[in-house]
Amino acid sequence: MSELDLGFIRSQFPAFSEPSLEGFAHFENAGGSYACGQTIERLDRFYRQTKVQPYYAFQPSKTAGELMDAARARLAAWLNVSADELHFGPSTSQNTYVIAQALGQLLKPGDEVVVTNQDHEANIGSWRRLESAGIVVREWRIDPDSAELRAADLEVLLGPRTRAVAFTHCSNIVASINPVRQLTELIHRAGAWAFVDGVSFCPHGLPDVAALGADLYLFSLYKVYGPHLGAMVMRRELNTALPNQGHFFNSTIPGKRFVPAGPDHAQIAAVNGVVDYMEAVASHHQLDDPLPSARAAGVRKLFRDHETALLQPLLDYLAAKPGVRLIGRTAAAERAPTVAFTVSGRRPAELAASLANAGLGVGTGDFYAYRLVQALGIDPGEGVVRASFVHYTSGQDISRLIEALDALL
Ligand SMILES: Cc1ncc(COP(=O)(O)O)c(C=O)c1O
Repeated sequence: MSELDLGFIRSQFPAFSEPSLEGFAHFENAGGSYACGQTIERLDRFYRQTKVQPYYAFQPSKTAGELMDAARARLAAWLNVSADELHFGPSTSQNTYVIAQALGQLLKPGDEVVVTNQDHEANIGSWRRLESAGIVVREWRIDPDSAELRAADLEVLLGPRTRAVAFTHCSNIVASINPVRQLTELIHRAGAWAFVDGVSFCPHGLPDVAALGADLYLFSLYKVYGPHLGAMVMRRELNTALPNQGHFFNSTIPGKRFVPAGPDHAQIAAVNGVVDYMEAVASHHQLDDPLPSARAAGVRKLFRDHETALLQPLLDYLAAKPGVRLIGRTAAAERAPTVAFTVSGRRPAELAASLANAGLGVGTGDFYAYRLVQALGIDPGEGVVRASFVHYTSGQDISRLIEALDALL
């Protein structure tokens, strides 16, 4: 099957048959997606059957540990990385914080890191804090007209002391997809590590992280139909180069070195639900390549084709509407379905309240991309309206959104 079967997809999400959500259209998916039934079922089952300390010999404990190991191995296979390269922490913000602590112990005063002003603060602030240890922080700025990052602007910032560059796969406001492979190659040629925030990209299909070439690739499972966890792929070389942040006696266990908070066992086990869901989508659409990363590519294409078809009319509508400032590109094929805009003379919060009355859930504000919003000349206190959707969104939801906007603007 080459087209997404939306009826099947929606049947996998209990939210779509939840009476209290009837008539509500969810357009704040970049903030957090609905959980698929498989995640909810895995979480429920863990709490009912195996909610004990894992990895001991007694049966529920043994099973709990096996479920956690399986979650790690299965998600890693979908991302085309090894299980010992995948780490689970409480959130992406906390994961970057921990890695930055380690980096601060390794780097020398005068070493340099590059951050952007396009990212969510999670992939800026942690690295910027290194300034207090004498690290020089350089800012790779967006082109204010297009809101995009240009590789040529990064090139001039790279030098012999650059040790790391942190940038986003896809901004949670601009939504264009940065050429990660090209950028990681450029960064590696300069002898630096590439730290990539994949939070806004991953809900639209899990990527082949090995192919992207990032040394650190981060995303948040609560936006990928799963539990509230941060996932972090860390290449082995980076893991061994950075000093251990966990208990000293665990320093040789790759998966424990950068997760100082004891992980949430039930939520890790529930990551199996995300993979169960991806497997169900693949199998329903006859994507049966034996390689998980090939099935992931097939699912990604299904998601993307559906999202792109739905996105274009929304972009066309906003781009043509007088007084609307649409952030980012107008061609759906060149961006993710995260659509941020402002309307002259109208407050984002007021517009969102009217949309909420019509049963449409959009977000407003700076979405913690504070520096980006500022660079775009927008008051972060007001921010933008953001309507973000994913593959389970229907054409009817989009029509409702366009009609409701049209009644308002
Ligand atoms: C692009 C982006 N990066 C990072 C984060 C932070 O993720 P977390 O909430 O897991 O810390 C978010 C959260 O909204 C985000 O949108």
